[in-house]
Amino acid sequence: MRRLDQLLASLGYGSRREVRSWVEEGRITVKGSVADDPGVRVEAADVLIDGAPPDHPGELLILLNKPAGLVCSRDDSEGPTVYGLLPERWRRRNPAVTTVGRLDKDTTGLLLLTDAGGAVHRLTSPKHKVPKVYRAVLDREPSEALVGLFASGTLVLEGEETPCAPAELRLEGGSEVEVVLTEGRYHQVKRMFASQGYSVVGLDRIRFGNLSVGDLPRGSWKELPISDLNNL
Ligand code: URA
Repeated sequence: MRRLDQLLASLGYGSRREVRSWVEEGRITVKGSVADDPGVRVEAADVLIDGAPPDHPGELLILLNKPAGLVCSRDDSEGPTVYGLLPERWRRRNPAVTTVGRLDKDTTGLLLLTDAGGAVHRLTSPKHKVPKVYRAVLDREPSEALVGLFASGTLVLEGEETPCAPAELRLEGGSEVEVVLTEGRYHQVKRMFASQGYSVVGLDRIRFGNLSVGDLPRGSWKELPISDLNNL
């Protein structure tokens, strides 16, 4: 049970003051009766706002097919953010909806967003080895020797001391490759190739654990059951 004004403010409906004014206007019912106290303790399932149930009172999990040109930071000083693709109310929720890890501005593909904070920590911690599959286009055809090097667990990135965990590299023909990583270091795919003198000219994440982007159009998102976070 939570205070009515706190509940609706946390779901992004507006400030507690705004919720209080809706109560005064008689726009909210609790168990079928018009609410007259913004501090009344409620279950979300008993509340209607203008006759409609609260928007996603439980935790949210969103799978986005990120387009290029959007940053994953909250701060839009580096350009438009992925959060701009979500409904405005979801952007005002508290706890906040955040990305599970980040993709670079020019990277496309599968990005998870959730307000289940514990899961974000778990999934982005180095201990959690959920495989992520990337399709990359390189500036030229890669040498086959890279396959063994990536798998060896000895590749050290510039400025780091701990070698990258073994990664699977599949040569897909021409300058196209697939890389499976179980870590998420800063710019990791680009830096792994850069360490061997290659540039990544296109990068797209197609899988995160057992979730895949499938045929979801670029720039679109879909909701997933929150339980999917526990089965990655
Ligand atoms: N590796 C990168 O270099 N960039 C990304 O966006 C993701 C993985």
